[in-house]
Amino acid sequence: MNNLTVTTSSASYPVVVQAGALASLPAHLDALGLRGVLWLICDGAVEARYAVPLAAHLRAAGSTVHTYRVPPGDASKNPAQLGELHTWMIAGGIERRDAVLALGGGVVGDLAGFAAATILRGVAVVQMPTTLLSMVDAAVGGKTGINHPLGKNLIGAFHQPRLVLADTDTLASLPPRALREGWAEVIKHGVIRDAGLFGELEQLAEARGWSESAPGGLWDPADAALTTVLSDLIRRAVAVKVAVVSIDEFERGERITLNYGHTVGHAVEQLSRYGLLHGEAVAVGMHAEARIAQHMGICDGDLVGRQAALLHAYGLEITLPAYDVDAILALAMRDKKVQAKKIRWVLPTSVGAVQVRDDVPEELLRRVLQA
Ligand code: GLY
Repeated sequence: MNNLTVTTSSASYPVVVQAGALASLPAHLDALGLRGVLWLICDGAVEARYAVPLAAHLRAAGSTVHTYRVPPGDASKNPAQLGELHTWMIAGGIERRDAVLALGGGVVGDLAGFAAATILRGVAVVQMPTTLLSMVDAAVGGKTGINHPLGKNLIGAFHQPRLVLADTDTLASLPPRALREGWAEVIKHGVIRDAGLFGELEQLAEARGWSESAPGGLWDPADAALTTVLSDLIRRAVAVKVAVVSIDEFERGERITLNYGHTVGHAVEQLSRYGLLHGEAVAVGMHAEARIAQHMGICDGDLVGRQAALLHAYGLEITLPAYDVDAILALAMRDKKVQAKKIRWVLPTSVGAVQVRDDVPEELLRRVLQA
């Protein structure tokens, strides 16, 4: 089964990436000693297909389950919605031994995770990501939170889950565009830390003729051989996240490397008024940041070309939209990684390795971002 384990100073928990994993939830809860009431939080995208059968499965195994559906979309990460979740749990008589179950994408994971972190000073949470993006990133590592009118994810807490259960079967119902954006983070994990993963992604693209429609936007349960290969690649990408947060739970060092592509990516995402999905913006950001690294002389053009070809093969655009460079740089300066008014760039040196640099000249940035 090849389960992964996050081990930090505050927690140790399994991360299961497997087809059909949701069916094993009752056994996992039992093994973890989570025998209290279950507070299942989902959104409309997954309620009928996954939450209803999962709740029935848990009840059949003897659990008491309450379900709450939040409206889909990032706008749900707000104080009023959080307050409603608190009210639902308090009015329902939540106790410390109970557990919150977060079923859905990153929005549900962040919101439900923060509700679990803050109710009764913290109850257990199980993360069950149903999007590729949340499987390889948000569900692992304990970042939870909501947005503030002045910025995204500014109110939150580190609250490590007791278990992450990623059922790759759920990817079959993901819209192709949402599946494709997830591959950006998979490829990112190859670039920052796992050259072998990057090579395997290349081999699969090669085997499929480097066509941009496959395998990025495809999750065909009828093609068992392909879904097995893709599941293995996803597990390997999740292993990168597991390794990084195990080294640096609170983002004091290594964890910043997960932000490769995100400095330009977040700026582009905001300038597109969220017309670009997060992973799409990260793909654009990875290309721009690899070119910054090339111009800094710390990586060669081969890396830039291989990464561009791979992103393209998984259906991702890499061209920076024609936004005003001043606007991109202004937003980059508001990035959470800025320290002493300097942007800390995560830049690749070779496939599988990155450096953090705060000495990128503004003139170089302008040249690359304008090109
Ligand atoms: N999404 C980046 C992190 O978890 O640190």
